[in-house]
Amino acid sequence: TVLVVDYGAQYAQLIARRVREAQVYSEIVPGDTPVDEIVARKPAALILSGGPSSVYEPGAPSVDPALFTAGIPVLGLCYGFQAMARSLGGEVAPDGTREYGRTELTVCAAPGALHDGLPARHPVWMSHGDSVVRAPEGFVVTASSERAKVAAFEDTERRLAGVQYHPEVGHSPYGREVLRRFLHEIAGIAPGWTTSSIINDSIDAVRAQVGEGRAICGLSGGVDSAVAAALVQRAIGDRLTCVFVDHGLLRAGEREQVERDFVAATGAKLHTVDANKRFLDALAGVIDPEEKRKVIGREFIRVFEAATAEVAAEEHVGFLVQGTLYPDVVESGGGSGTATIKSHHNVGGLPDDIEFALVEPLRALFKDEVRRVGAELGLPEAIVERQPFPGPGLGIRIIGEVTHDRLETLRAADAIAREELTAAGLDRTIWQCPVVLLADVRSVGVQGDGRTYGHPVVLRPVSSEDAMTADWTRLPYDVLERISTRITNEVAEVNRVVLDVTSKPPGTIEWE
Ligand code: XMP
Repeated sequence: TVLVVDYGAQYAQLIARRVREAQVYSEIVPGDTPVDEIVARKPAALILSGGPSSVYEPGAPSVDPALFTAGIPVLGLCYGFQAMARSLGGEVAPDGTREYGRTELTVCAAPGALHDGLPARHPVWMSHGDSVVRAPEGFVVTASSERAKVAAFEDTERRLAGVQYHPEVGHSPYGREVLRRFLHEIAGIAPGWTTSSIINDSIDAVRAQVGEGRAICGLSGGVDSAVAAALVQRAIGDRLTCVFVDHGLLRAGEREQVERDFVAATGAKLHTVDANKRFLDALAGVIDPEEKRKVIGREFIRVFEAATAEVAAEEHVGFLVQGTLYPDVVESGGGSGTATIKSHHNVGGLPDDIEFALVEPLRALFKDEVRRVGAELGLPEAIVERQPFPGPGLGIRIIGEVTHDRLETLRAADAIAREELTAAGLDRTIWQCPVVLLADVRSVGVQGDGRTYGHPVVLRPVSSEDAMTADWTRLPYDVLERISTRITNEVAEVNRVVLDVTSKPPGTIEWE
């Protein structure tokens, strides 16, 4: 394992992902983890993340010099680089030199292992205040920039190296290569953490945990629960039962995707509960968004519990499979201090007093890794590449009361928008594109010779990295035109299509 020591940069998760892309398993630990604890984990290498711009800043996290003398290979990035320089006897000038953004890096005559053979001048992403002016003894300076005379150094003997820039971001085009070289060449770690090794390891782990027991897994139609279930199915076969609650708030074709395609791909035992009516009854008269979420969440738990009890009545079930991912683990206290901005109520969420042991086969994985695992397990692309979709489903995309007819209207409009976006090859360009029905708004239109008085739907295409912030996607006009023409022609209740051009913040992605 390579440990990324997180000094509060928002880049720690990105660093861990890049390490994994180099086929080396990586986890994040908080910057204040005691050195003994770090050493006890016997990491193959450490990567110190960026952090505040200066080691002289009041309250800047301290980096224990013992990290550098434990015999563990270390790569310092940005703040980690400066801290490394200072601890080992180099000099960091508190001169307030600022370099921010795209910067040209000049590789020195002695390029070292990290920069050997890279273009003599190439762009990197910088963000630092102070700069290292003298490398510690034993280190070779291998690169510089206009403001940072010492922009990279290494001591291959002690297997210590550092760079002032951020190799983990896309704006440093050779950054991945530099990270790869640190891992493979300086730290001497053999690559081997691949999708198939992940699958084999988690199958072994699930078998060890569940033994001869039985498990249950709630499917939402989304990627995580599908991949978690597929993995557990591989591990314990028919001792897994999947439960799918159709709450009637899904999009067109999603029930079939689970009942037909997921089952065909995995052979999993599936128990579907058709709860359409129950959810509609519970949602009658509910308009407030938070109230809707509460009602949907509450009903979901009740239905899921009843279904579970039914399955468990036949034979004892001791385990519940959940699709928890690594970022959730890190954010819920496992790692960095970055604040969670909005915690969503997830329809998959279950009460605390549940009497199952949890099986979480995706706990160590990032989303892109989960998708690769899913693809390798043979799950259909429509499931594996599915864009985010909220647990409360179309329920929070009808502004106003949720009714059967309104759901039908929105489902039809949404299906058209998705079809056209897919046909235009835009699925990977956009993060997601909610289609929202303004069910309490009517506007006048004209169709043929007749006056219409119908509802608008809103298209909300967004581009995002993580849903925390988002920009509205500049969709091509011809695609917008096709979507608009088709929706207003094919969906009787809708006579107007409007485009949401608000970024997040201030708007959220969903309208409710
Ligand atoms: P907002 O609207 O907060 O959405 O910008 C951010 C991301 O979260 C999704 N979302 C939800 N997901 N339950 C979920 O599981 C919810 O209640 C919920 N509300 C929003 C939204 O689709 C976007 O990807």
